[in-house]
Amino acid sequence: MPYTLRGRSMLSLVHHTERDLTYLLDLSRDLKRAKYAGTEQQLLRGKNIALIFEKTSTRTRCAFEVAAYDQGAHVTYIDPTSSQMGHKESVKDTARVLGRMYDAIEYRGFSQSTVEILAEYSGVPVFNGLTDEFHPTQMLADVLTMLEHARKPIHEISYAYVGDGRNNVANSLLLVGAKLGMDVRIAAPRSLQPTDDLVTMCKEFAGDSGATATVTDDIEAAVKGVDFIHTDVWVSMGEPVESWGERVHLLLPYQVTADLMASTGNPRTKFMHCLPAFHNAETVVGKRVAEQYPELANGIEVTEDVFESPANIAFEQAENRMHTIKAALVASLA
Ligand code: CP
Ligand code: NVA
Repeated sequence: MPYTLRGRSMLSLVHHTERDLTYLLDLSRDLKRAKYAGTEQQLLRGKNIALIFEKTSTRTRCAFEVAAYDQGAHVTYIDPTSSQMGHKESVKDTARVLGRMYDAIEYRGFSQSTVEILAEYSGVPVFNGLTDEFHPTQMLADVLTMLEHARKPIHEISYAYVGDGRNNVANSLLLVGAKLGMDVRIAAPRSLQPTDDLVTMCKEFAGDSGATATVTDDIEAAVKGVDFIHTDVWVSMGEPVESWGERVHLLLPYQVTADLMASTGNPRTKFMHCLPAFHNAETVVGKRVAEQYPELANGIEVTEDVFESPANIAFEQAENRMHTIKAALVASLA
């Protein structure tokens, strides 16, 4: 049988092979070029996709909607307040209903088990648009962006993620780098490092792919020579607001500053962030945190000067969410 990803869900990337990921990245590039050239073919006409969001979103929702519309598919957006799921109807029952009406489901929410139940009982491909544990669609965009900017073979690319090392983005960056044979380094305080189970699994993947997967609290060693420095918010959606006090104290040494960027010793190091980012006090949360911690007035996980510098490629990364999600939809549904 010819190779295909038809009918496949994307729940974590744990079960995706290097070949699956490479295929999706190649398809993303093809679809991006076709859109730029005005030659895109609609392969998803007549398909219907349910988009469930139990947490807020800008990029992921818009990327799924634009990708679907570009390809001729229709979407239904379901927000936390307007569905019965979890309140009056179990996830399992909701899955069995949606599976009879839709060709695919996107789910953003809390527990990884919810997205897995949706996949098991709906009978249609399910895409994890972010859970507490993983953010797989983000990874396709991150790797595509790194490939576009490093302009070297994937096995020669190195990147460090600094900050809260056990959130969805950090977990997924460790996983995808280990799968794709990259040099991936997670720098975080001990109490905010990925679980032993995840690290053991990623080291095994790294053994197979030739990747180097490092988890350390030594930020200086972690960023040495890297092509890319990634970070993310210090407190993720769904975590209690009280976490800020402890996190600020633990993560201030891991803030992405101009000094940290310079300390890579690589003048071409680029800055990446899944966004949204707290890089000044112009947001409600950024302002509240800055009032309490004046040392964070010029940015929390990344300082304003780094964010506004030419090294920042986070907006390319954001655009690539759409091209890569489109590839995931086309590969599974066309
Ligand atoms: N990066 C990302 O997932 O952004 P949203 O929360 O806006 O979807
Ligand atoms: N770690 C962040 C990612 C947002 C895209 C969160 O879960 O809030």
